[in-house]
Amino acid sequence: MSSNKKLFIQTLGCQMNDTDSQHMASELEKHKDYVQTNIMEEADLIIINTCSVREKPVSRLFSEIGQFNKKKKQGAKIGVAGCTASHLGEDIIRRAPAVDFVLGARNISKIKDIVDIKGSVEISINHDESTYEFATAKTNKYRASVNISVGCDKKCTYCIVPSTRGEEISIPPEMIVDQVRRSVAEGAVEVTLLGQNVNSYGRNFSDGRGKYTFTNLLQDVSKVEGLERIRFTSPHPLHMDDEFIEEFAKNPKISKCIHMPLQSGSTSILRAMKRGYTKEWFLNRAAKLRALVPNLRITTDIIVAFPGETQEDFEDTLDVVNQVRFNQIFNFKYSPRPGTEALNFADIEIPDENGSARLIELIELHKKHLVEIMDTYVGETMTVLIESLKPNGEVCGFTDNFLQVFTKGSDELLGQFVNIKITEASRTSLKGVVVL
Ligand code: SAH
Ligand code: SF4
Ligand code: F3S
Repeated sequence: MSSNKKLFIQTLGCQMNDTDSQHMASELEKHKDYVQTNIMEEADLIIINTCSVREKPVSRLFSEIGQFNKKKKQGAKIGVAGCTASHLGEDIIRRAPAVDFVLGARNISKIKDIVDIKGSVEISINHDESTYEFATAKTNKYRASVNISVGCDKKCTYCIVPSTRGEEISIPPEMIVDQVRRSVAEGAVEVTLLGQNVNSYGRNFSDGRGKYTFTNLLQDVSKVEGLERIRFTSPHPLHMDDEFIEEFAKNPKISKCIHMPLQSGSTSILRAMKRGYTKEWFLNRAAKLRALVPNLRITTDIIVAFPGETQEDFEDTLDVVNQVRFNQIFNFKYSPRPGTEALNFADIEIPDENGSARLIELIELHKKHLVEIMDTYVGETMTVLIESLKPNGEVCGFTDNFLQVFTKGSDELLGQFVNIKITEASRTSLKGVVVL
């Protein structure tokens, strides 16, 4: 019999945090009889799954705990999980005694063991086999996410993730393929393979098995019957070797939208960031991909105002943006993070207003590109997997290269691949009519 305890989870951060939240929800449902709710005020357990990649969300955490504590049902528990839990640990309870437990990003699988122990703090980043077992995480009925690795072994000098998620371990391929199969059996036609650095997959298996690369994994996952589309994030530009690019180009199940996190277009800043590639390498990889994949869309992450970034360095970034013409850019202003190597460059930090000006310039340039790029789609017919119903009589879905498309339609179209002739474009999505 269900006791009907209710769980509210607020998730910040990246897609790995989303899967972690779904994993916690599933463990708590299985072992502790919790059901999820979207209403914080009726929850018996509130979990904030945090991100610490930039300062802003971290500083908001404590005011948020205060708000939750004020509005929550009497006797409801509050837990803080994820990357900020890993890096602040028991300090969280010291600063906010309303918090009942703290669970690090690497320890999510322990949720059932600590949820009932007031004051417990579990933040070890040691390797733990139990972290392999993830619940099937779903964006919607048709899309599932599957973790392929935990942690990150890179040492990008601005980044806190390696210290919150620990050493990089690849999950055995059999477990991944098995989970993809289960997701497909439950109705998914698309999976996203997740890791902080997916294409270094296979460097470190816990069982010390022999050579098996991300390209091998893509080949094996694409054999799963009923699976139509494979996406993955994030790959690292350094590890985009020819073998990977060729598999990406020729494997029809792999979505033709790739994330290539540039971070900076300046080779000297890339060196200071310890990214391991040059401006030329990045441009070469993007050009090779574009040459082999006709409708390729490329998305990226860029950090402006890294310590020491000169106007010339920034212009190198603009130059890469002009050459590659990214389809989406996630722009960030550098944010100093505790324990990272870039703190050593504090004396050459860029004044905030210069960082903001660079950010605006980059955003404006990208907007101009987007208008031009999106207009080229008008008149084309595209195959769209319809995933959701909108309240205004429209349905919405995504193309193989991850463009969002809206059209008139009803629930009969859900889960179908339909051909849509594009009639209108905005900077972020397309509209069209169904054609037979
Ligand atoms: N593993 C992923 C990135 C995870 S963090 C990858 O390498 O692509 C997501 C993004 O946050 C990074 O790509 C970077 O652009 C940004 N980021 C990370 N640390 C940052 C910091 N200290 N300041 C600003 N942006 C940061
Ligand atoms: Fe951070 Fe670099 Fe690892 Fe990405 S690859 S998580 S940016 S250290
Ligand atoms: Fe944030 Fe941790 Fe993801 S710091 S971006 S939630 S790995």
